[in-house]
Amino acid sequence: MGETRVKVWDGWVRLWHWSIVLLIPVSYLTAQAQKWDWHFYSGYALLTLVSFRILWGVFGSEPARFATFLKSPFAALAHLARIRREEGPDRELTHNPAGGWVALAMMALLLAQAVSGLFAYDQIFTYGPLARQVSEETRDLATSLHIRVINVLLGLIALHILAIVWYRLIKGHDLVQAMMIGTKPMPEGTRAPRMAPPLLGLALFALCAAVVLYIRSFGDY
Ligand code: HEM
Repeated sequence: MGETRVKVWDGWVRLWHWSIVLLIPVSYLTAQAQKWDWHFYSGYALLTLVSFRILWGVFGSEPARFATFLKSPFAALAHLARIRREEGPDRELTHNPAGGWVALAMMALLLAQAVSGLFAYDQIFTYGPLARQVSEETRDLATSLHIRVINVLLGLIALHILAIVWYRLIKGHDLVQAMMIGTKPMPEGTRAPRMAPPLLGLALFALCAAVVLYIRSFGDY
């Protein structure tokens, strides 16, 4: 059977994905180096990106929607049981049933990481922009989440990258190319998924950025 290139990842999904790949190390390293101004800027950008991605999961292009890629846990297990078998060309128009849950978990942890940072403080003089608005207990809880959630997120990222390498080596599917250029080779006759208007993405992104800038106005950076 012939193959045809089908668009699966719109520009907004690719922009958000490669931006977080850049910004998560920036956030990690600036925290280690205690460069708080840059840590805060990177955190605001990540909060904007992840909030946008959640809205895009509801209103965005078909492959990006939660309703498209969240299948039952049984479908995820059935997919994992087949993961070694040679299956020919890629047939997924979105995340595979197991990858969808990992993608959701990464988004949820990234959101938890960014939101907890808003309320966190370093016990000396660095306060998240909303840390002064809440009780000491809430601040302590947010701070302990902020220093723990990142480790779980890093573990999932490692699993995520291993899965991508596995698909390349065992199944011969180049998922990275698809996340870079948006299209991937699929069996001839595959239905093209519906793409949302890019301007809708811009409007949702601007909305998220405006809310985050407002939150930022309470802070020191
Ligand atoms: C900071 C590290 C990373 C994070 C937090 C991350 C997170 C994510 C998330 C949340 C998704 C779901 C995308 C969406 O639905 O919008 C995703 C998909 C994807 N990521 Fe990453 N990623 C990271 C690093 C990487 C790296 C280094 C690569 C390349 C080796 C990569 C390749 C991909 C690919 C190919 C997909 C699409 C998978 C599919 O076809 O189902 N990611 N990633």
